[in-house]
Amino acid sequence: MTTMTPAPAVQTKPGTDPLQLIDVDHVRFHVGNAKQAAFFYAHCFGFQIDQVCDLTTGSRDTAIYLLTQGNIRFLLTSALSAEHPAALEVAMYGDGVKDVAFTVFDAEKAFERAIKNGAVAAPGGEPRTVKDAHGSITTATIRTYGKTVHSFISRTGAYDLTKVKQGALFAPRFKKMETGAGSAVLTINDYNRKNPCGLKYVDHLVGNVEMGKMNYWVKFYEDVLEFTMFKHFDDKDIATEYSALMSKVMASGNNLIKMPINEPAEGKKKSQVQEYLDWHTNTPGVQHLALRTDDELHSIAALRARGVDFLTLPDAYYDKVWARVNKMLTDHGHQAVKEDHQKVRDLGILVDADDEGYLLQLFTKPLQDRPTLFFEIICRRGSQSFGKGNFKALFEALELEQERRGNL
Ligand code: FE2
Repeated sequence: MTTMTPAPAVQTKPGTDPLQLIDVDHVRFHVGNAKQAAFFYAHCFGFQIDQVCDLTTGSRDTAIYLLTQGNIRFLLTSALSAEHPAALEVAMYGDGVKDVAFTVFDAEKAFERAIKNGAVAAPGGEPRTVKDAHGSITTATIRTYGKTVHSFISRTGAYDLTKVKQGALFAPRFKKMETGAGSAVLTINDYNRKNPCGLKYVDHLVGNVEMGKMNYWVKFYEDVLEFTMFKHFDDKDIATEYSALMSKVMASGNNLIKMPINEPAEGKKKSQVQEYLDWHTNTPGVQHLALRTDDELHSIAALRARGVDFLTLPDAYYDKVWARVNKMLTDHGHQAVKEDHQKVRDLGILVDADDEGYLLQLFTKPLQDRPTLFFEIICRRGSQSFGKGNFKALFEALELEQERRGNL
């Protein structure tokens, strides 16, 4: 059985800092067809299709599905008319992440502080409260890179996040999915409960920005959200013969969430970050969400069985990886990688180590037809870094994919 890893540093008592983050409230995606996307993420990644907010609950402009797994909450939003901003954004950028929303103690105060720190309110982002007899939700939203936003969410009564985690309704106008006998939702939710994929929470979330803009957005996260720099890599770390990128990792005060920011770097051929931008209407956005598991072998085997497409590394990767990783671990007094080496290889999982321990990770191919958003499935055994030792092998694998798409 897997050992439980609690989500990082979830705050329970308000301090004096209005930007103190309690949790990642949810990640909202804009998608072309939320009903169908819900079944894709449920089938391929094991999410529960838990709640819905649509015409049947009085929502006239959007349909929203709440998908849950562990402490991960995705809201899949589709517009119900051509004029709705979500419809325009899907037309421009394809399906992707719109909002990385943080639970805070007081959304209005968090928003005021962020604005004072230099944030710009998203259209319609001023604090607004939705309430009913059971409780309330206050949301306030600021812009970040491209069309991406951050909402601050504060909750009262039945909509408190701890209650939502226990199965309470997410917000007014949401209802539990109809799960009468024989319903497709009941069938898939039931299957997923019995066959869990083991995804626990969002470990990190990576943004791609334009060349020359990484430091601008680093400063934005420092100034506006009061994040600090966690690690940084330059193009010497992240380059192959052909393509390169630069990356800096920003972390919230309590390390609740880490947000690496990538920009393309000059190489002989096209950077993967530039490929993303080319297919994202030259607009920055979220490149990948890393979802944390306590058991990489189990999660990857389960996801592969469900049909998730992962990046494939050349088999030669495993000729060198164990010596490299285990030397790093023994040099720093850590135990060697405990997972069965053959199983790691059979499942195509990547391994890396640093002075604090090791990690196992694997990257999906793009989740939609455009080569934009993908997921990473990550398991940490002490290491708090991002798999720097894998970058070269990974980029070579990505270049092969880019070549197949005619984008190198
Ligand atoms: Fe990552």
